[in-house]
Amino acid sequence: MDRRRFLQNSGLAIGAATLPALKSLGAPPTAPAFGTWQDIRTQFQLRPGKIHMSQMLLASHPEPVRRAIEMHRQEFDQDAVAYWEANWQTAEIVVQKAAGAYLQCDPNEVALTDSTSMGLAMMYSGLVLKPGDEILTSTHDHYATEKSLEFAASRNGASIRRIVLYKDPSQATADEMVSAVRSAIRPATRIVALTWVHSSTGVKTPIRAIADVIAAANAGRDSQARIYFCVDGVHGFGVDDITMGGLGCDFFAAGTHKWIFGPRGTGILFARKDASHMIRPVIPAFSFNAYGEWLNLYPADKLTFGDTCTPGGFHSFEHRWSLNKAFEWQMTIGKERVQNRTRQLSTMLKNGLREMKHVKLHTPVSVELSAGINCFEVNGLTPDQVVAKLAQKNITASSSPYKTSYARLTPSIVNTEEEVTTALKAIEGLKVG
Ligand SMILES: Cc1ncc(COP(=O)(O)O)c(C=O)c1O
Repeated sequence: MDRRRFLQNSGLAIGAATLPALKSLGAPPTAPAFGTWQDIRTQFQLRPGKIHMSQMLLASHPEPVRRAIEMHRQEFDQDAVAYWEANWQTAEIVVQKAAGAYLQCDPNEVALTDSTSMGLAMMYSGLVLKPGDEILTSTHDHYATEKSLEFAASRNGASIRRIVLYKDPSQATADEMVSAVRSAIRPATRIVALTWVHSSTGVKTPIRAIADVIAAANAGRDSQARIYFCVDGVHGFGVDDITMGGLGCDFFAAGTHKWIFGPRGTGILFARKDASHMIRPVIPAFSFNAYGEWLNLYPADKLTFGDTCTPGGFHSFEHRWSLNKAFEWQMTIGKERVQNRTRQLSTMLKNGLREMKHVKLHTPVSVELSAGINCFEVNGLTPDQVVAKLAQKNITASSSPYKTSYARLTPSIVNTEEEVTTALKAIEGLKVG
């Protein structure tokens, strides 16, 4: 890339009004208009005869995503370098724009990752902290959050303090969680690191209310001492109908291969514009502007988070470049509709589970305090035994990978009321003795 080529192409930045379409055999199909939930289900190639209630771990691809991946794959297989050359400057911008439309944020605030774990690692490793700074986190977070924080603190010298947000998940309240954070903030606290929906218990934390507590604490601090709010959002993302402004955190990491039903091996990391200086890139970006800056052709002070924080190197591009199709598909169905359907099926499941004497439901029933993860125990059986027994009945459940483990069923928009009823009957049949 030389100065002439750079200047010729510099209109391709995210801010440009229009982008050329991907140069390819033909555009992949756009999502069909929403018809019924059965129509949505038929867009998946899920194995028939099974009840798939663990898409929260790793999703199947709906048709528009599958077709886009296939189109890119064919092009790469036919002429990888030419296809990459023709599209590398724009393909990721297309995805950032789709993410921005879904999240209702500036696409420059979005970096693309390969997973929630990668986003968490980039977020926590990149934080500009020093010895004496404190990271306030909880005892309910995923392995990937705990380890990313430990790795980061071992390098920057910050300390980590973990607090309990609730003792009994089934009885958790928003006030209890908000108060726990409010009373734990100290002068040294610079980061609050939490998880939106705990995959350990299914509890949904009140992120907006906690963001307000942090904003109130920041009102009395100078900018050097500002507290930043980092969230692992993966199990609310694609369930709750939110915007980044509405949620109110500064940083948000989420995989898009779970509830968003995006390509496996994709995710996003959001950084609010007025907070993004707190995160330094970890892996060099291959974006057009980041390269331009390295070649002294683009001013460093114009680089955005989106320019610099998407890890570069060559990737499984057929997946990354198809993520826009998942966001478009979600929006065609409608974010509110997705939220209501997921809530409807989960509420039905939980109401059934809590009626069973041999079952202990650990997730709150309230939609304010839960999303789509439902954790429970069955008397006399370990979580793995529950999962194995449900698998014998062709129901895919999962056990939570935590020190205290529970069985989980996580109905999503691919499931039906009949499937929830069948799953409940199967659990009824697990009564021991
Ligand atoms: C709360 C939470 N965070 C992070 C992860 C890791 O997600 P990923 O596989 O996208 O890295 C998981 C796994 O399901 C999870 O439950």
